[in-house]
Order: sequence, then structure tokens, then C-alpha cells
Amino acid sequence: MSDESSLSPVIRPMGPADLDRIIEIDVKVLGKQRPEYWEMKLDLVQKRPQISSLVAELDGRVVGFIIGGASRWEYGVPESVGWIDTIGVDPACQRKGIAKRLFEEMVKGLKKMGVDTITTFVNRRDWILLKFFKNLGFQKGDMINLEMDI
Ligand SMILES: CC(C)(COP(=O)(O)OP(=O)(O)OC[C@H]1O[C@@H](n2cnc3c(N)ncnc32)[C@H](O)[C@@H]1OP(=O)(O)O)[C@@H](O)C(=O)NCCC(=O)NCCS
Repeated sequence: MSDESSLSPVIRPMGPADLDRIIEIDVKVLGKQRPEYWEMKLDLVQKRPQISSLVAELDGRVVGFIIGGASRWEYGVPESVGWIDTIGVDPACQRKGIAKRLFEEMVKGLKKMGVDTITTFVNRRDWILLKFFKNLGFQKGDMINLEMDI
């Protein structure tokens, strides 16, 4: 990314009024509509202080979002571990450092909650997300994902 192509978005907490725009971006990046999921998610982030959710705005328009938080011993993971749940940037605004800025702001908040390690799940075939997290400094962690068909 060159300096010319980087943008300075306003990063602020996500609010209920952001719902429609987040759904719009999510459809663009994931290719499917999931409004009920986002209604539930936005409701949850307002109620749970350990969940951190941010949006990035350019000229007053939401162009990206991130949700993460501090662990509460889910899966035996200690409180010093935080997680990134989801991240998305409008394709029209990608490769301009917006996701990186969202992540940096999330890290500031998580540090204040006592987090010193961040974990996330990425599909091993999702080359773009893998590149993104690698660029931030993420490496393969100690957790192993187990599954079975039922
Ligand atoms: C991954 C994603 C969030 C990156 O957003 P972005 O704002 O474009 O990312 P940034 O501009 O901050 O990129 C930071 C670095 O990550 C890497 N990167 C990001 N997108 C990349 C791409 N498409 N190809 C290769 N590397 C990429 C680069 O190293 C980049 O630095 P550079 O531009 O200086 O080379 C965005 O592509 C996206 O929303 N993808 C879909 C995510 C998704 O599936 N979310 C749902 C489940 S979590």
C-alpha cells in the first residue's frame, strides 16, 4: 500500500443505526444475506461489555467493521486472550489500510481489558484473510480445530 492510497477513516463504536450498512457490506464480502444474524449480533454487542465492536467511516459513510472481545474462559481460554470474531471492508474501499486501522483500534481497547494475545479463526483456503492477518503479525497458534460429521 502506498502512502497515496492509504485513507484516514474515522473509527468509532458500532451502534444500532449502523445495522443496514453493515448488512450491505457483509453481503458484498460474503455473498449472502444474513440480516437476522446481524440484528442478534448488534443487540449482543450493546449488552456485553467484553465485546468490542467498531466501524470505520469515510465522509460519514460506514465502509468497514470489526467485532472482537476479551475471552471469558470460553473453551478454557484465559482472560488474557482476546479474539477477532469478524471483520469486513466494503470492496470499493479495500487495500487502503481501513481494516488495519480498525484492527489497531481494537487492539488498543483489548489491551485496556487486560488482553495480551489475540486469536482468530481463518479458513485455511481463505488466502486473502490469511495474508491480512499475517501482515498484522499473526502466526499459527496452539489451538487445533476438531470436527466430525453427524
Ligand atoms: C480482509 C479484509 C478485511 C482486508 O481489508 P482491507 O481494508 O482491504 O485491508 P488493508 O488495506 O488494511 O490491508 C492490510 C494488509 O493486508 C494484506 N491484504 C489485505 N487485502 C489483501 C488482498 N486482497 N490480497 C493480498 N493481501 C491483502 C496486505 O498485506 C495489506 O497491506 P498492503 O495493502 O500494504 O499490501 C477485506 O479484504 C475483507 O473484508 N475481506 C472479506 C473478509 C471476510 O470474509 N469477513 C468475514 C469473516 S471474518
